[in-house]
Amino acid sequence: MAATQLSHVLPLGSRVNDLGHLEIGGCDALELAREFGTPAYFVAEDDIRTRARAYVEAMRARHDDFDVLFASKAFPCTAVYRLLAEEGLVCDVASGGELALALRGGFDPKRIYLHGNAKSLAELEQAIDAGIGHVVLDSFMDIDRLERVAADRGVSQRVLIRVTPGVAGRTHAKISTGQADSKFGFGLDDAKLAIERLRGSGSLELVGLHMHIGSQLLSLEAYRPAVEALATLGDFPVYNFGGGLGVAYTAGQQPPAIEEWVDANVSALHELLGRDKRLLIEPGRSLVANSTVTLYTVETVKRNVSTWVGVDGGMSDNLRPMLYGSVYEAFFADRPQLAGTGETAHVAGKHCESGDVIVRDVPLADPQPGDVLVTPATGAYGHAMASNYNGIPRPPVIFCKDGDARVVVRRETYDDLAARDV
Ligand code: LLP
Repeated sequence: MAATQLSHVLPLGSRVNDLGHLEIGGCDALELAREFGTPAYFVAEDDIRTRARAYVEAMRARHDDFDVLFASKAFPCTAVYRLLAEEGLVCDVASGGELALALRGGFDPKRIYLHGNAKSLAELEQAIDAGIGHVVLDSFMDIDRLERVAADRGVSQRVLIRVTPGVAGRTHAKISTGQADSKFGFGLDDAKLAIERLRGSGSLELVGLHMHIGSQLLSLEAYRPAVEALATLGDFPVYNFGGGLGVAYTAGQQPPAIEEWVDANVSALHELLGRDKRLLIEPGRSLVANSTVTLYTVETVKRNVSTWVGVDGGMSDNLRPMLYGSVYEAFFADRPQLAGTGETAHVAGKHCESGDVIVRDVPLADPQPGDVLVTPATGAYGHAMASNYNGIPRPPVIFCKDGDARVVVRRETYDDLAARDV
């Protein structure tokens, strides 16, 4: 099969090699499974770099004063932070833990934004003590607390206000965030009060407004009305329009290109708020999702009403199908040319509940125990939401580039499972 026939959900540069095996970042997927074991996340490093550059270039082409923030919740591991810091991105963290990882990964604290609808006092202190650039305020209590922390330390802290513009992006309800009835941010009326409140603050310096209207958005229509809503709140030097660009999990999905997403957002900024603003954007999923494939090994094949292909991972390494009904592709690493052919089967995880099905109704070409199964597009919110359910050690993360593979997060051991016991 020619490389061009591979699904666009796979990492950029993926191909079928001379042995007829899938190749990721120049590495044979079957060899990767043998060397590093399964399940494991294999990341084509260059894929992430290319997408990061695409965001930066698209912004640079349309607007002077900008930053691209990595919404690090999508793939919070030190090596990914390091890579995106190297690419010149800025970082969004959603907790003290992500802040610690971002600093470890080499982000300048001045280039970090702290989010959170329920930040603790300890997280606010940690952020200020680290010298974080900006805190994104989410509630009146958040304002009160941060003001006290900053005043106690005699610092002036730059802040943005997170606004829920009353516009929801069309996506799964669990990842829609812009609607008025949201746990995030200030509604438009409260935002006006928060702006007033901050104008009188001695220790908090309000520089602008933030919004994030939802995630895995496959159309751009919700951004403009959301920006219109922001425009009713006055004139600020900085605007953060959040992330949300959807990705293709299956061959049938065609999300807008990064350039189209940037174009829609920059146009809305220029037309509704002005050209003299600093524009921040905050992509997570669209930077990292398609960079990664998970490799599993088939353990069992069972036929009853359906065909069940049981693999050595499941909801402990990919919770998305169970939480959001997300659909993935699946095929075998040593016969990718047969993807989409064969007996219709369910790829079942190894966890002790019926909902632990990674892919439903997927044609699989002659599944056999020992086969290495590929699910693409697992870079975003896979490792991020992994757990130890059923005492399963979490999988390693392996970076692949130019035919070389290196472990950046090792596989957990049974000792790790007991490491916090006292
Ligand atoms: N900014 C803020 C404030 C966010 O809350 C998020 C995502 C992003 C940026 C990045 O959004 P993205 O570009 O990744 O769409 N676990 C879910 C996704 C939750 C998204 C949470 N916030 C999933 O697996 O689909």
